[in-house]
Amino acid sequence: MKDLRELLAWQEAHGQVAHIQREVDPEYELASVAAAVQKQYGKTVLFEKVKGSEFPVMSYVLNNRAAVAAALNMAPERMTHQWSAREEQQCPYTIVEEGPVQEVVDLEPDLTKLPLCLHSDGNNGRYITGGVLLAKHPVYGDLNASFNRCQLAGPRKLRVRMMPPQHLGQFQQAAEELDKPLDVAIVIGASPAVMYSGASKIPVDRDELEFAGALGQEPVEVVRCKTVDVLVPAHAEFVIEGRVLPHVREEEGPFGEFTDSYVPVMKNHVFEVTAVTHRKNPIWHDIFAGGQEDLMLLGLPIESEIFNHIKKFINPDHILDVVAAPFVFGCFIRIKKTREDEPKNLLLSALGAYSWTQFVVVVDEDVDVYNPNDVLWAIQTRCCPEKGVMVIPHVTSYTREDVKEENVGKFGIDATAPLEKSHIYTRRTNRWNGTYDLKDYYTE
Ligand SMILES: Cc1cc2nc3c(=O)[nH]c(=O)nc-3n(C[C@H](O)[C@H](O)[C@H](O)COP(=O)(O)O)c2cc1C
Repeated sequence: MKDLRELLAWQEAHGQVAHIQREVDPEYELASVAAAVQKQYGKTVLFEKVKGSEFPVMSYVLNNRAAVAAALNMAPERMTHQWSAREEQQCPYTIVEEGPVQEVVDLEPDLTKLPLCLHSDGNNGRYITGGVLLAKHPVYGDLNASFNRCQLAGPRKLRVRMMPPQHLGQFQQAAEELDKPLDVAIVIGASPAVMYSGASKIPVDRDELEFAGALGQEPVEVVRCKTVDVLVPAHAEFVIEGRVLPHVREEEGPFGEFTDSYVPVMKNHVFEVTAVTHRKNPIWHDIFAGGQEDLMLLGLPIESEIFNHIKKFINPDHILDVVAAPFVFGCFIRIKKTREDEPKNLLLSALGAYSWTQFVVVVDEDVDVYNPNDVLWAIQTRCCPEKGVMVIPHVTSYTREDVKEENVGKFGIDATAPLEKSHIYTRRTNRWNGTYDLKDYYTE
């Protein structure tokens, strides 16, 4: 799907969009209601009237695997395999002279009129959370895409968080060494492929718009920004153009992030806005940190990265699921085990595949890895702690500056049953299960 509009239309056709007609306040109310609607109905939430802004807001758009699979034209049950294959490819973008994202060009923008949201008590003001930041390396010219939260600091000023060793920070450092600002475009409402490229950690010298083309199996159409030297997707909703200033840092935060706690105030970068462009009737995109949409954006690229590593140790067709669930730092791997040494090798390579991955559990094919309780059941019944738990000391997982001393060490759990005793570990069945409609027996 070349843009979020196509995904929204697909979701509309499947009854997957909740329209909220009542006006909501972008401060606290929108985030609270969006989370509640998503939890109860599992739908994309579209707020049609948002106080203080003329633009509607969508949230929880990419909130389940089916939506992502549809958007990227993948089979839900083969997503990790297909993702991994597409990761090997690049697909050059096409430069076009004009695109919907520049239907309106505002060279004297006022960001306070955009529906930036305030999500949690204690957050220092309103933030852009759904923006993919695009920038060109000041020396090598490679194009990078990444999500970075941006705090509203004035009508034309933002503060941007770049957590080391993120690539945007490396680009900014290279520009700073030349005493130059870094041109950056913040893209809101990009296509699912561009968003997932932005959320992926691919090598710094690979162009991430070309990777987006590979992920979506279609070249991304891009236009040149009006005031900075950056190419942006022509079919996005909004673009905020500007520059990250060299040698300037200001206090940003606190911000309630995906770990469900607050990142404290830190000295972060300053972004000076030079223009805002958008469609004629644009929709703002807000992502709630730690919500389903955010966890999927963070998790799916990690799953693919782990798959790429573990497939060296086992027949890839025997890897049935790799799930960075439920909260990104963990990973559940479901396999068809054929040798006793497989799980330990998988644990070791999976733990080394991605820095953030703190623990991995390997289970047999009869375990539902999308249900954490079932994984706990497997640990309880099939893991022999003396032989099945592996601790890797001294390795940092989550590199956030203020907590990295606590995030040291990783562990793996082999929760697979011994092959020679598989008859003892076979799960119970009942031939009647799944053959009837419960309503024929009981209704409330
Ligand atoms: C919604 C969302 C918000 C994010 N916010 C930040 C952020 O504020 N700072 C940061 O360093 N990384 C943030 N990340 C993670 C990076 O975007 C991600 O690690 C990305 O792969 C880094 O890109 P890189 O490979 O170009 O370094 C966020 C990710 C998502 C999905």
